Amino acid sequence: MFAKDEISTLMLRDHAKVEGIIVELSKSVDKGFKARLDIFNKFKWNIEKHFFVEEKCIFSQCHNLNEADLTAISNVMLDHKEILSMINQIEDDIIQKKKPELEELKKVLLEHKKYEESFLYPLLDKELSSMQKVSITERLKSHLST
Ligand SMILES: [Fe+2]
Ligand SMILES: [Fe+2]
Repeated sequence: MFAKDEISTLMLRDHAKVEGIIVELSKSVDKGFKARLDIFNKFKWNIEKHFFVEEKCIFSQCHNLNEADLTAISNVMLDHKEILSMINQIEDDIIQKKKPELEELKKVLLEHKKYEESFLYPLLDKELSSMQKVSITERLKSHLST
């Protein structure tokens, strides 16, 4: 599998954490308003942090990659925007005490995760220099642990 300090290893660990919160979020649909809102806020905090870390700690360090690789990164960033807008819609529903529709979000998140895990992160681990990877993984370790 992956070496201990590769980008893939650290980000897969954070995906697993976010996935656990998505399970809690699904279960919260049948709970009361307060519990639903608390779990939603935890989910939103963690997914925003995950995207922020991907964009600011990883993607911003990838300028030297070729055009095809940079396009793959741009597409992932567009996904982030789309996902955040879906999350804002769900937040509106929760605040208005409507039952949130999570299935589409879960589907899009799963596709996004699969793309990053099977293609993008392994590509970055392969294409970035050792120095770039050390600098990125140090930042990831400090930001993902908070
Ligand atoms: Fe992402
Ligand atoms: Fe990710």
